[in-house]
Amino acid sequence: MFHSSQSKIPWEDRTLPLPFTSPWLLAPMDGVTDACFRDLLMETHQPENLGGAFTEFIRIHQVVPSEELFRRHLGPKRFPSPVGIQFMGNDPSLLKDCAAQAAAMGAPVVDINFGCPARGARKGCVGAALLDYPERITPIIDACVDGVEGKVPVTAKIRSGVEDDRRLADIVRAVEDSGASLLTIHCRTKKEGYDADAIDWGRIALARKLLNKPLCGNGAVESLGEARDMCNKVGCDFVMIGRAALANPWIFSGYEASTQEAAAFVLRYGDMMLERGAHPKNALSRLKQMIRFWEVGDLVAHKDDRKTWLKTKRLEDFHHRLQQMAQT
Ligand SMILES: Cc1cc2nc3c(=O)[nH]c(=O)nc-3n(C[C@H](O)[C@H](O)[C@H](O)COP(=O)(O)O)c2cc1C
Repeated sequence: MFHSSQSKIPWEDRTLPLPFTSPWLLAPMDGVTDACFRDLLMETHQPENLGGAFTEFIRIHQVVPSEELFRRHLGPKRFPSPVGIQFMGNDPSLLKDCAAQAAAMGAPVVDINFGCPARGARKGCVGAALLDYPERITPIIDACVDGVEGKVPVTAKIRSGVEDDRRLADIVRAVEDSGASLLTIHCRTKKEGYDADAIDWGRIALARKLLNKPLCGNGAVESLGEARDMCNKVGCDFVMIGRAALANPWIFSGYEASTQEAAAFVLRYGDMMLERGAHPKNALSRLKQMIRFWEVGDLVAHKDDRKTWLKTKRLEDFHHRLQQMAQT
């Protein structure tokens, strides 16, 4: 079990020890980090390399989703590194019931999404939209803490603000005042999107100053070296890696995959989705979402080559091309 050395409050004070097996976590990414992708990553890495992961967000609206949906998100396999279930909603009482159901089903962590920048999230006032209302953050987290009845930790994931970072301190204090066990902060605002010029580790450092709980830094980390650098420079306990793990799924170990290994990974991902009942169209769209970011093993030679992958209409054609690369 990985405990923060900087944690100042007693763990028993509504903040549970975290079950992660290393400081390096896979970020939740809707459209890619489903159970198949995560299982492949877990199989590829030792627990001391990849410390944990999260489901794609589950939108919570009006009713508690079925156990079947939670089960699908959590996946059939378990590994030493835990997979937290992530919810996106704004109704404390509904989220409390969802958290209770998730904990009863054995989800090892419940995470709340306060970072989704999508238009739909803004319309429904969920995800990043809630960052404009820090006073709503504590009750949402605490409802989930009540729901899990001390069985598992509840964590929160934020961006650094909506239009700007002026309210970041209020947002961090709202998490500090809650029973959350961990705060993950993406060091860009919603408005900044994925702008390469807007990466501001100072925001993570500010959160570190204000927060007496474990902290996870996130945003444009491209290697384990950079992740370690982030921990050292801003004092975070964990680093969450997103798109760089799609560019290179071996990122958590530093292994350099060959073209054959890279092709075999993508093939296996496609096969696994089909074996677990995915519609071929959905499997293809997930493979394409991953290929959008892919960098290792020369699967994508250049920008135009990426386009040819993305234009592929049939899963069979995608597979055929991969099979040829896996055999060369
Ligand atoms: C395709 C995609 C889907 C995402 N889906 C989610 C999600 O479901 N929940 C969430 O909290 N963040 C989501 N994010 C944000 C990432 O978890 C992460 O915070 C962001 O990509 C910054 O980290 P990175 O620069 O390492 O990618 C998503 C990001 C991408 C690129």
